[in-house]
Amino acid sequence: MGISADQDLASAWSELPYLDDPMPLYERLRNEAPVFRTPDGFWYVTPYELVSEVLRHPRLYASDRSNSAEPDPYRVDPADGLYARIMSKVILSQDGVAHRRLRNLVGPAFTRGAIEDFRTQVRQGIVAQLDEMLEASSGRGERACDLKADFTLPIPTRIILEMFGFPRAEASRFYEMADTIVAPIDRATPEEWHRQASAVFERHWEFVIDAARERKENPGDDLLSRVVTSDDAEGGVTDLELLAFVAFLITAGFETTANTFASGMYRLMQDPEQLTAVREDPSRTRGAVEEMLRFEPATRNSTPRFVLEDIELGGQVLRKGETVFVSIHSANHDPDVFDNPEQFDIDRHPNSHLSFAAGPHACLGMALARMELEEGINALLRSLPDLELAGTPEWHPSLVIRGLRNLPVKW
Ligand code: HEM
Repeated sequence: MGISADQDLASAWSELPYLDDPMPLYERLRNEAPVFRTPDGFWYVTPYELVSEVLRHPRLYASDRSNSAEPDPYRVDPADGLYARIMSKVILSQDGVAHRRLRNLVGPAFTRGAIEDFRTQVRQGIVAQLDEMLEASSGRGERACDLKADFTLPIPTRIILEMFGFPRAEASRFYEMADTIVAPIDRATPEEWHRQASAVFERHWEFVIDAARERKENPGDDLLSRVVTSDDAEGGVTDLELLAFVAFLITAGFETTANTFASGMYRLMQDPEQLTAVREDPSRTRGAVEEMLRFEPATRNSTPRFVLEDIELGGQVLRKGETVFVSIHSANHDPDVFDNPEQFDIDRHPNSHLSFAAGPHACLGMALARMELEEGINALLRSLPDLELAGTPEWHPSLVIRGLRNLPVKW
């Protein structure tokens, strides 16, 4: 699906979740309406400079939804169901002191140095997953698989579950919570959505809270133990905060990395010369990872920001309480910042993409994500020197994430 040159921007914009190639639309938005009023009444920002401006100024653009003048009916629940209560507690919806408090709880576990201690464990997880993938394909009598389902999704899932001290067998619980957090585009009416989404969290509440209680009594060397035993000014986390924390962190831990890995490998395999270059010289993997992050950022748009005072941005006046989304995908392809942005180039330097956002909410897991991608790509290319595409993958229709549904490969 694509947009036509004479299509009006409002109708083109509403097709964004379904566009395999949204670049022509982003280009038009950057040129014709850099701060665009969408048909739904929020602001959509596409040029790099303005995206960066919004992300870096939380005193002008807040994350806490209580600053919204027109609350999103899919987030505000008159029946006060569990889903809306959980979403009001996730780290990305906090500002200022409340935000710093949550970040301080697990921040130290995600620094580059702390993550480096996990490298051996990450490598072992990757080798084990590769073995499972090869065994399953040879069991089917094939040298082919869906790389998304069999490799790029299971790797970050097993790593983040291990970091939390949850068995892999529990993955489906977290997939279900993740599908709810990454809201699908075909949600039912707000009432029905709140009912369904709350039911998901009610199903898993006991499992998480029981595990937390158990870790409080017998703390281990894992993230859950760290969170439940931390005692801050508030006297530790509440059960509601705990479920929000675990569900969000685990979702953030696998969904984004899995998508970057799959779309990144797709782009790399489309260019056999660069694929060979990375395979033959692992010192080039780091550059390839940064370009994969830039080219197809898994979080295509930020979570919403709410205007705290009337302000001018990109020639528009934004009013207090209005909602702003920034397009990380568009910013990463802005020709004012990146030379020849549609060229996938593993040697791009500098590569100041915004895929991990910027400002106070900049991704907490970036060191872990980079390590998983680097180790995963190296292991894959070393073990399967003949790896190549075996079909055209499908993009997942979404306004929130940019990711492939599948990635058919052979070797
Ligand atoms: C390639 C992989 C990843 C990408 C592209 C990515 C992207 C992002 C982006 C864009 C944000 C900011 C969103 C916003 O401001 O609206 C974010 C925040 C966050 N990410 Fe990641 N992420 C990735 C991997 C991870 C991993 C592996 C973890 C943890 C295990 C993680 C944990 C978080 C957390 C906790 C936040 C919220 C930070 C805050 O509010 O202070 N992410 N991520």
